[in-house]
Amino acid sequence: MDRKCILVTGGAGYIGSHTAVELIAAGYDVVIVDNLSNSDPSAVEGVRRITGAEVPFVEADCCDDGAMERLFRSRRFDAVIHFAAAKAVGESVSEPLRYYRNNLLSLLGVAGQMERHGCDRIVFSSSCTVYGEADELPVTERTPRRPAASPYGNTKQICEDILRDATAARPALRAIALRYFNPIGAHPSGLIGELPRGVPQNLVPYVTQTAAGLRECLSVFGDDYPTPDGSCIRDYIDIVDLARAHVAAVRRLLEGAAAAPFEVFNIGTGRGVSVLELIRCFEQTNRLKLAWRIAPRRAGDITAIWADPSLARTELGWQAERSLADSLATAWQWQQRLGSGTK
Ligand code: NAD
Ligand code: WQD
Repeated sequence: MDRKCILVTGGAGYIGSHTAVELIAAGYDVVIVDNLSNSDPSAVEGVRRITGAEVPFVEADCCDDGAMERLFRSRRFDAVIHFAAAKAVGESVSEPLRYYRNNLLSLLGVAGQMERHGCDRIVFSSSCTVYGEADELPVTERTPRRPAASPYGNTKQICEDILRDATAARPALRAIALRYFNPIGAHPSGLIGELPRGVPQNLVPYVTQTAAGLRECLSVFGDDYPTPDGSCIRDYIDIVDLARAHVAAVRRLLEGAAAAPFEVFNIGTGRGVSVLELIRCFEQTNRLKLAWRIAPRRAGDITAIWADPSLARTELGWQAERSLADSLATAWQWQQRLGSGTK
């Protein structure tokens, strides 16, 4: 069989490394490009160990046109999954230029080479952040996007727009934007997972680091939201399920099954979970007590969001299969594997 080759940009990162594993399991060849600005080569090694595949790794910046030109000249890619971006919301507020430069130029650099080298299938990492605080829940793909609350969120909206315009202008080009909800958990092998740098901003790495004794106490940001228990509600999606959504998207693009040149899918479970519910589930699943306290609300947080993932089910044939407890078990297993190494 003619094996298809997928370029995974940002493939040494959290979502990219798990996606590389699932692509290889599905029979694709994978090449990873990453500048290691927020990751470690050990993730690529983890992908190799899990899959037993060689997995070529190119250390390069997607904003570097010369490096991208050489990469695309080196072999033919049937599709690209573009993860490479900086993702810390707070940092994007203090360093907007770096965020716009990196996240926009990396997409433009890759898309430019795709055009030059006749590669016309791309999956893009978008985010539920494009919905902001939605009027109706759950959000569907037709829920209007809200003006972005951060430069990071704005880069996701602009990148979606770039791909919509590029597919309109170039008939052969097909793009799928996956709007992820909140990815959590790690690979069950314990060989790859999330490597947060410094103090984690996201809930689950903070929870696991607190359970491991690396942080004193988890602050629950607000218990006075208009939700059943007063804490915020999110849609936590298991990382392996999320990785498999990319395989489904690539397959759709390569089989020519896309219904439109540019498509968008929500990738979530369809279930809203509160912060306090997540803490309880973590404690029960892993049989431990977590130190936590109620703290003031965090600026910029929305009250609640969860996905209507039915379009992904009918069109991509994908749905989340892992439970919250499954994800919190692998997240804790990964934290124990990391020990005090927090990167
Ligand atoms: P991550 O930081 O673990 O992975 C991103 C990878 O891209 C890193 O390995 C980083 O070194 C690399 N990178 C960044 N800029 C680059 C560049 N210019 N050239 C080459 N490599 C570059 O983050 P992640 O959680 O795996 O996120 C992957 C994608 O998914 C990002 O686009 C992110 O915005 C998006 N996303 C993430 C979440 C989340 O909560 N993790 C939610 C929605 C969307
Ligand atoms: C989840 C919940 C917090 C930390 C962010 C980005 C979003 C997307 C996903 C990329 C919230 C609460 C958190 C803590 C807490 N990323 N919390 N104590 O804010 O939903 O989304 O990641 O696209 O764009 O904004 O995720 O994990 O930070 O927070 O109580 O120490 O946990 O208030 O309700 P968030 P998160």
